[in-house]
Amino acid sequence: MIKIAPSILSADFCKLGSEAAEIKAAGGDWLHVDVMDGLFVPNISIGLPVLKSLRRATDMFLDVHLMIDRPLRYVQRFCECGADLVNVHVEADTEENIRKAIEIIKKNGKKAGVTIKPGTKAEAIVPFLDDVDLVLVMTVEPGFGGQRFMSDQLPKLSRVRVLLDEAAGDRLLEVDGGVDADTAPLCAKAGAEVLVAGSAVFGRADRAAAIHAIRDNCNMI
Ligand code: DX5
Ligand code: ZN
Repeated sequence: MIKIAPSILSADFCKLGSEAAEIKAAGGDWLHVDVMDGLFVPNISIGLPVLKSLRRATDMFLDVHLMIDRPLRYVQRFCECGADLVNVHVEADTEENIRKAIEIIKKNGKKAGVTIKPGTKAEAIVPFLDDVDLVLVMTVEPGFGGQRFMSDQLPKLSRVRVLLDEAAGDRLLEVDGGVDADTAPLCAKAGAEVLVAGSAVFGRADRAAAIHAIRDNCNMI
C-alpha cells in the first residue's frame, strides 16, 4: 500500500490549517513538513512554532524532514512540538551525532528516519538501519519544491530497497522530490512506499484528483 505525503512547502502558509484539512479530505495519508535552516540547504522555510500550530490544527501524521545542520541540537524540540516522525540527513553531522539524534527521537516515542541527498551513496544508511523506522531518498537536491525529478536516483532507490529487505525488521522507504503522477510509478516500482509530493498536489486546484492520479498510476504497475 502506497502512502502519499503532500509537502506543505508548496501550501499557502497563510492558511496552513485549512490546507491540512483539505489534504486530509482529499485522501492524503501523511503531511510532510520541510524544515530548512539556510545553512544545510540554501533556503529557509518553517520551524518549531509553525509545527506546533500545525499540530493543533490537524490529527494527520506529521512527517518532519529536517534539512538543518547538526539536527541533534533540535530534535528534542521538534518531538515536543508534535512531529510523529523526524527525518535527519546523514550528511548533516558526524555518524555519532546522527546516532544520538535518532536515539532522542526514539526516546520521545516518535518514529525516526534517515535521509540521503542525491550525491550520497545508498550504503550511507547502513550504520543507522537497526535504529530507524524509515529511510528517505531525495530525488532532487534538497532546498526547493517544484524541481525536476532526478531519474538517475532510481537505481539507488532500488539499492536501498534491497538493503532494507536484507535487514531484519520492517522499515519504510520514502522518496521526496519531483514526484508526480508520471514519476510516482517509477518510484513505486523501485520499492518506495511513501511518496512525498509538493507541487504535484498543492499546484493543482483539485487536490483529491491530484492524489488519486498518483495513487492510481502506482496501482497500475
Ligand atoms: C525539497 C523538499 C521536498 C519538496 C518536494 O527540499 O524536501 O519535500 O517540498 O516538492 P516537490 O514535490 O514539488 O518536488
Ligand atoms: Zn522534504
